[in-house]
Amino acid sequence: MARRPFIAGNWKMNLGPEAADTLARALKSKLIDQTSVDMAVFPPFTSLHPVIGRLQRTGVEVGGQDLHAATNGAFTGAIAGEMLRELGCTRVLVGHSERRAVFGDTDDMVRAKADAAWRAGLLPILCIGETRPEREAGTAEAVVERQLGSALLGRPADQVGTVTLAYEPVWAIGTGLTASPSQAQAMHAHIRSWLRAHFPAFVADEVRIQYGGSVKSGNAAALLAEPDIDGALVGGASLNVDSFAAIVDAAAASR
Ligand code: PGA
Repeated sequence: MARRPFIAGNWKMNLGPEAADTLARALKSKLIDQTSVDMAVFPPFTSLHPVIGRLQRTGVEVGGQDLHAATNGAFTGAIAGEMLRELGCTRVLVGHSERRAVFGDTDDMVRAKADAAWRAGLLPILCIGETRPEREAGTAEAVVERQLGSALLGRPADQVGTVTLAYEPVWAIGTGLTASPSQAQAMHAHIRSWLRAHFPAFVADEVRIQYGGSVKSGNAAALLAEPDIDGALVGGASLNVDSFAAIVDAAAASR
């Protein structure tokens, strides 16, 4: 079954409102004719408003990088899914490895945040992936299965069918080290077979699995040519209009 490629840009803690608006304007003019790839960008919270305004009625969706599990309340510094939705976000990242490693997001918190995303009408991109010691110990698949199981098991298949997964080996994020296309494909195929084992077949057929970790214009085509790699979650290379657009073009050419 053909899955539409999906390229997402995670801007992390970069680009204040003005710089974000400048990049959004450039993306708009560069990507306006792109109709065969789903696209989304994830600016910092304070830059969401101008970027959403700029990218309205383009093919580029806008989402938050994180959300709190609760709807509202005494959670100083936190942002609720409903707030993102009201602003015009359609998606949200959940469980990014930097949230897990730097901010202490546990598997339970990631599940609660995924709940909150769906409750608010946002489509989550669930990020999963092993660290270097976990890969070296031969536990990469077990780690990824644990993260998947914690976030997804026990949910209705219709809901799971709307998730996007981002396989991001932690050792490849921001390091310039990429998983080789065959390494990434092997894990993506494993993730898809896990979905097939736990949910009705349409879930494994439809859920898109992005690869993330030092994706650049130079390596995107080889990764996206793999049958189970349906897109990319791009960090550093998403901060530049030309490199992000080149990755989108590679995705369009891959199908
Ligand atoms: P990177 O980040 O492309 O800079 O490695 C990817 C990510 O963290 O999503």
